Parts: sequence; C-alpha cells; structure tokens
Amino acid sequence: MKKLSFALFAALILAACTKQQLPVANYDIIPQPKEVQLNDGKLFELNSKTVIYYEASLQREAQFLCEYVNDILGFALNQQEYQGQPNGIVLKLSPADFDQAEAYEINVTPKQITVKGADAAGVFYGIQTLRKSLPFEQFRTDTQVSPYKCQLPCGTIRDFPNFAYRGMHLDPCRHFIDLDSVKIYLDMMAMHNMNQFHFHLSEDQGWRIEIKKYPELTEIGAYRNGTVIGHNGNLYDTIRHGGFYTQDELRDLIQYAAERHINIIPEIDLPGHMQAALACYPNMGCTGGPYEVWRRWGVSDDVLCAGNEEAMQFAENVLNEVIDLFPSPYIHIGGDECPKVRWEKCPKCQAKIKELGIKKDEKYSAEDYLQSYVMNRMAKVVEARGRRVIGWDEILEGNVSETAIIMSWRGIEGGIEAAQKGHDVIMTPLSHLYFDYYQSEDIANEPACIGGYLPVERVYEFQPLPEELTPEQQKHIIGVQANIWTEYIAHFWHVQYMALPRMEALTEIQWNNPQERDFESFVERCHKMRQFYDLYHYTYADHIFNPKAWADTVETNLATRKPISLRQQPAEKYTYEGAKLLNDGNLGRGAYNSGRWLGFCGYPLDAVIDLEQPAEMQHVRFHALINKGAWIYNPSSVKVLVSDDGETFRQVAQKDIPISTWHDKEGIFAYELDFEPITARFVEVVVSGYDLPEDHSGFGNPAWIFVDEIEVW
Ligand code: ACM
Ligand code: ZN
Repeated sequence: MKKLSFALFAALILAACTKQQLPVANYDIIPQPKEVQLNDGKLFELNSKTVIYYEASLQREAQFLCEYVNDILGFALNQQEYQGQPNGIVLKLSPADFDQAEAYEINVTPKQITVKGADAAGVFYGIQTLRKSLPFEQFRTDTQVSPYKCQLPCGTIRDFPNFAYRGMHLDPCRHFIDLDSVKIYLDMMAMHNMNQFHFHLSEDQGWRIEIKKYPELTEIGAYRNGTVIGHNGNLYDTIRHGGFYTQDELRDLIQYAAERHINIIPEIDLPGHMQAALACYPNMGCTGGPYEVWRRWGVSDDVLCAGNEEAMQFAENVLNEVIDLFPSPYIHIGGDECPKVRWEKCPKCQAKIKELGIKKDEKYSAEDYLQSYVMNRMAKVVEARGRRVIGWDEILEGNVSETAIIMSWRGIEGGIEAAQKGHDVIMTPLSHLYFDYYQSEDIANEPACIGGYLPVERVYEFQPLPEELTPEQQKHIIGVQANIWTEYIAHFWHVQYMALPRMEALTEIQWNNPQERDFESFVERCHKMRQFYDLYHYTYADHIFNPKAWADTVETNLATRKPISLRQQPAEKYTYEGAKLLNDGNLGRGAYNSGRWLGFCGYPLDAVIDLEQPAEMQHVRFHALINKGAWIYNPSSVKVLVSDDGETFRQVAQKDIPISTWHDKEGIFAYELDFEPITARFVEVVVSGYDLPEDHSGFGNPAWIFVDEIEVW
C-alpha cells in the first residue's frame, strides 16, 4: 500500500513535471509593456498546429509572426484569413477600442491569443511583444523539452507608445553602408518598436542618393580618393571609398521599411556639409573651387553659395526629386555646422544680403539671417508638396519659420528654446543620444571611435521632457532619436556594436513614461534581448552583461591622500577638484573630460607631495591618457625628485618616453619609474609633454597631457 501510493505519487509528480517542462513565455521584455495583467496559472499552448488567423489587411503582419516563431521555436505556423478557431492567434484591427494610434492589446486565454491594434502598426507592436516574450529554452539539448511547443501565461497586456516619433539615425556618408546592412538596421529598429529612420544621405565626404537631374552627384560625388588616417592627422590612405543608392534601390528600401511600420526620413544636409556636391558643381560654391570630395572629417568652410541663384535652384531641384521618391511626411534639410567665412567674403552672398535688406542685430549676424533665408526658401519647397521640414538646432539662429521641426542635438537647450517658440521638437542631444560615442571607460579595449563617453546607463537616464517647459510646451516634444555618425565606424558590425544594447535604453525612453524606469529590472530584461542578438548574429557591446570588476581604485600607497601641490595649475577647463585628484586613490577613467584627469598643455605637470614624514620609496607610477585626435599625447619625459625640507630637491630618477605614432594604440597607459631605495619626506613628480608631430594637423602646437593618480611606494 505504502509502495503503491509512492508510485502513484511519483507518477503524478512526473506528469506535473512533464507538463511544466514546456518552456513558458515571459512578458518582462523591452520596452516593458505598460500594463500586464496575468490570470493565475492558466496557459496557452503554442505548437506547430497553432494557426494564425488574420484580417486581410494584416497579411504581412501574420507573415512576420510566423517568421519570428520559426526563428525562435523552429516551426512555421499556418496562416489563414480571419475565422477565429480554437488554438489560434487572431490578429485584428479594432480602432474603436483605443484612443491613440499604434496602441495594442494582447489577450491570452487557454484557447486563443488575440492581438488587436488601433491600427496595423499597433498589431505589429503586439506581435513584437509576443515575439520577445517567447522562451528560448527549447534550444537546450535536454530531451525532455519539446522543441515544438511552448506556453504563454494567460492574461491581458495593454500597451501604447509615449512618443509618436521614435527614431534612429544612420550616416552612410562618412562610410558607405550597403543596402543589405541598412535592412538589418531596419530589422533592429522594428524589434525595438521604432518608427522613424533618419537617413543622412549627403555629406562633405560623399553623396549617396541618385538624383536624375544631376548625375554627377553620384558619378563624382559618391567617391573620395582616400581617407584621413586616425583622428584627422596629416596622413591619408589612397583607397577610393564610396558608393550610392539608386532610386530603384531606395524604393525597395522604402517598401521594406514600410512593411515594418518604419518611415524613412531622407536628409539632404544644406547649405553646409555640401563639399561632395561642390566637387561636382564647383560654381555653386562661393570661391568656385576646385573642390574635392572631402578626405578629412570635421566641418568644411566650403558651403553652398547662398547668393548664387543657380545653387539655390539646384538645392530646390534636389529636394523636389527626393520628395518624389520618399513618401515621408518629414523631409530633413540639415542646417547644422554651416560656417559663414565664405559668405562673409563672397560678393554674391553680400549682394544677396543687401538685396534682401538683411541687417545684423545684437544676437545674430547678417550671414546667420542669410542662412535663415536659405532654410526658409527650402522649407517652402517642402511645404508646397505637403510635407514638413526638419532641421538641426542651428536653424534657430536667425528667423526660421515656426513650421520647421527642430532636432535638438547640441544639448537640450535648442529643444527648449524651440518648444518655447512654438516649434515641434525631436530630442537627440549628444549628451545622451550620440551612439557614436564610447560606451565603456575602458577605451583601450574598445574599437576606436570619435570619443566621448555614453554608457547605456546614461542613455537610460535621459529625460526628454525638460522641466523648464510648461505642460503645453512639452507637447511640442514629439519624439526622441539616437544618432550614429560613421567617421570612425567603417563597418556595419561596428554600427551594430555601437547601437546594441544602447537601443534597449532608447526604446524604453521613447515608449515608456520616465516614472516607469528601473535600471535593475532593465538590465535583467536586456539579458533576454541578448538572446535575440545571438540568434540573429548581431554584434553588440557586452559591458552590462559582464560587469567586470574593473579596478577603479589603487592600493593605498605612500602618496594616497597626502598634501599635494602643483607648481602650475592645470588648464582651467580640466582642473576639476585640482591637485588632490592626483592622489585621491581613484584612477583616471573615461574620456579626457570625464572629470577624472587633470589636463596640461604647453608646460609640465609638476606636483609636490608631502608624505608627512620621511619614508623609504623606490617606485613612482602614474597614468596618462592618449587621444591623438584630441591633441592628447603621451608624456615626453618624467622626472622624480625628493627633498627632506620641501625646498631643496635632488633628482632620483628620469625617463624619456618615445612619442606615440598613428599606428600605436590609444587609451590609458601606466608609466612607472623604479629607482634605488631612498628615504625622504617630499616627492616631486615632473611630467613633460611633446609638441604635436609633423604628421598631426596641429603640427607645431603643444600637445596636451592628461594625467591621474600618482602612486609612490
Ligand atoms: C550633427 O551632429 N552635426 C548634427
Ligand atoms: Zn557666396
């Protein structure tokens, strides 16, 4: 009897376990759905007999769901037009049930899953949520786990986006990006419920879109005959670089994006960033050229001549062709970084200023207002075609028309000013959303990029609605976007690496309310997204997945937190807490402007540390940062001196350090001097810098040194 009951018990347990061993979906995903209500314990079984029932207009959505399930679970679901049978996933439109676009609701019962949307986009986002909730466990080799089934907890999910505009930008101009890669980028956006792809199609370094009226733009303007090496040194490679998209290819891309509910916003950046176009049509520049498709990075002084009617008509014609091609409700006309030095000297531009009766005032120059004339003229072309213009925040400098949407990139200040003036605004500040910046402080172990420091934590902190704005003004903030510029990103794997996982933080900002953020839960949910990166072979940064105990502090040594003075102060901008930063026990980390380095230029760091009593020592070590593009080189020499009274010093060690070349790695380096044991109370460390070498664009100027944490033992 006892035995039998045990056997029965065991059988019951086994049955229960077998049931439970089906992998179960989990709705803790990114972005976190706004409302998840679970009905206790019941489950829907998704298996190879499950059928997707869809309304006719949702056929493509049904296909996506089928593909996603196949990717994760390894079986294809049948699809049928709507009937709503048991063991089905029903996709339907139900606009009357929602009060905003793109909203969706998922209802899971033991018999059926219903995904209903305010529109097809809503259904699509519901499908993304289902997809991201599916369990990956079936890939275990454990034979008890069926590869053909999983379960979804019963309940209701209600969700909608916070911002209507949820963007990612991509620059295929500095380095060309082939269309297959751009499509993968769109797939990445779709997985993150993003709906606006800002495609930056013209630059000084390459024109990327076929314009039928001006074939030279791509015949000549799409290729440069070499590229500067490193961070704008004086060395160039001689590799022809470039490429462009034909209008047919772009039509295909527009369709690909539209299926994923993504709109492509083309950007023609003008009147600056036009050197590639000027290389084709030199008479459209103020000096007449000759110009080359630029081989350097940065901001070119050569811009479209605003006083040349032909140049203005050229820009209008290009925009008209772009508008013919792209159905986007928004057309981006650039407006950033347009130096005025050519216009100031150009007779045509000056004549235009006169003709228009432009006068400078205390805020803006006549040339600033001349740029407003260009932007407003282009805006008219766009608006005449029933579209809206977007411009970078510089276009506020002057009198740009209120209908222009402002992309606030230099900070959030431009966005605040714009919203106060009645413009709609897209927030994309470099402080939080420039994904071309480093995402780790350990830059020596990162693929080299433009600089900066923007870890995923910082992205996640971003608050798109500034408190300075009234609730009414806040309504002008229509969206949030991150940007990927590619000066130092030559390959698509690197684009992905810069995007992931920062896109996880971005989508939470775009989709959810600020008060719904919780970084710990976010990191947990990122782990799930990582399985998708692996599944689709996306390259990604893994810092948040492997929080390395990266030593941040030094062992307490003779110098730690002892009185320290500098014979000459650091540059004002890089002084922070002053000398005591050098022996506070914390290592210099991050970029040169992270606040954890002292910066010196043109004179040595000369620090005297009072050990407070005589001590025996034989080693001195410090760290310095190298970032050649930012004019920061390694030290040229180091001297260590000691003193008993703090007045008379004698040298005990000296070391010369060869200058770093463009081929040498950048990052953070330790420099150590060892010497015969000596006993003294005061130590003086003198670190000298180089002048910039011949192959650097700043040749002849003193290089910077950035130093931290002097250790003595
Ligand atoms: C920009 O980053 N120049 C908009
Ligand atoms: Zn001019």
